[in-house]
Amino acid sequence: MARIRLDGVSKRFGTTPVVQEVNLDIADGEFLVLLGPSGCGKSTLLRMIAGLESLSAGRILLDDRDITATAPRQRDVAMVFQSYALYPHLTVAKNIGFPLRARGRSRQQIREKVTEVATTLGLDEHLDRRPGALSGGQRQRVALARAMVRDPGAFLMDEPLSNLDAALRSATRTELIDLHHRLRSTFLYVTHDQVEAMTMATRIALLNNGRIEQVGTPTELYDTPRSTFVAAFLGAPPMNLFDATVIDRAGELHVVADGVDAPLGLSAGSATGPQKVTAGIRPERIRLNGTDAQLRGVVTASENLGSEEILHVTVGGTVIRVRAPRPVPAQVGDAAALGVGPADIQLFDSGTGRRLVWHVPHEHGASPRDASLSVA
Ligand SMILES: Nc1ncnc2c1ncn2[C@@H]1O[C@H](COP(=O)(O)OP(=O)(O)OP(=O)(O)O)[C@@H](O)[C@H]1O
Ligand SMILES: [Mg+2]
Repeated sequence: MARIRLDGVSKRFGTTPVVQEVNLDIADGEFLVLLGPSGCGKSTLLRMIAGLESLSAGRILLDDRDITATAPRQRDVAMVFQSYALYPHLTVAKNIGFPLRARGRSRQQIREKVTEVATTLGLDEHLDRRPGALSGGQRQRVALARAMVRDPGAFLMDEPLSNLDAALRSATRTELIDLHHRLRSTFLYVTHDQVEAMTMATRIALLNNGRIEQVGTPTELYDTPRSTFVAAFLGAPPMNLFDATVIDRAGELHVVADGVDAPLGLSAGSATGPQKVTAGIRPERIRLNGTDAQLRGVVTASENLGSEEILHVTVGGTVIRVRAPRPVPAQVGDAAALGVGPADIQLFDSGTGRRLVWHVPHEHGASPRDASLSVA
């Protein structure tokens, strides 16, 4: 059992802020993924929770207990490192049992626990080998097993799959999800890989420059990103973002840009003047050769992914990426008419990048003509 709360957690190295005012409440049994680009402070944050790094400000609570100043060994958490950090001269069994030996458990207790955990992770055949004689995937399991023998309330994992090849990474993702279901402990998992985050997390905390940009389920972050940073971080290819203007066209709101004219399905309010925005459309939400085209351009490149194709369509001065099932009825050099519905267009503040939402008053007598845009 472990609920982890971060309360205004900050870290500076010298004068450089690396983690800034992070507030996060991780429920018992969650699989929370800390996601973000390289250098955004993910490992530092995880190391602070493990007790391997001090805080410059803030508090960390584990099940309502303030552990900010508690020694790493006294915290009910276990860390799994990217490098595995196994002892090369010890056998797999000794590596796995190490935390128990360090805590003075009896040989009998250690043997039983090591056997139990090794069986769970399919390592029972390899207990007498040394790490050097194991594959990367097996070493990763030994590192996981070593964390598991202590029955910690929470597992802290820092990019544990990054040294594995693509096939093994995919298989291990599934195993970790399964393990999380069985152990029912709290998993706090660091990665910069959006596929790992989307597939494994119950919630994602996306970090940008030491700050939390958005916390939510994978679906929430993907479908309703709070900022252009989130919109552009998730998705392969990411959301198309371009400068546009919202205008009143004969009483209807439209998003327009060079080569773009898309109705938003809302009547214009009396006070609605032209408004500069950043418009966003996911590549898979765009229909090719829509008869009622909202975007018009020229196909300038295509990427064949096997099952699908990514078309690069230059619309005005912007490259819009379109994800479509193969075979695609368009070739490089063709004119492309693209269809997009009102619900597929997201709007962001062109200055701050924050998500904009429509406010349509519901009071009696008010009409949708009074719709207005504001920051979410
Ligand atoms: N001991 C240290 N002294 C000074 N700066 C550090 C130290 N450790 C980390 N940093 C800096 O803090 C920032 C955040 O580092 P951190 O390792 O937490 O990033 P990360 O998000 O885990 O990145 P990656 O995805 O590359 O692992 C980086 O700019 C890094 O250079
Ligand atoms: Mg890191």
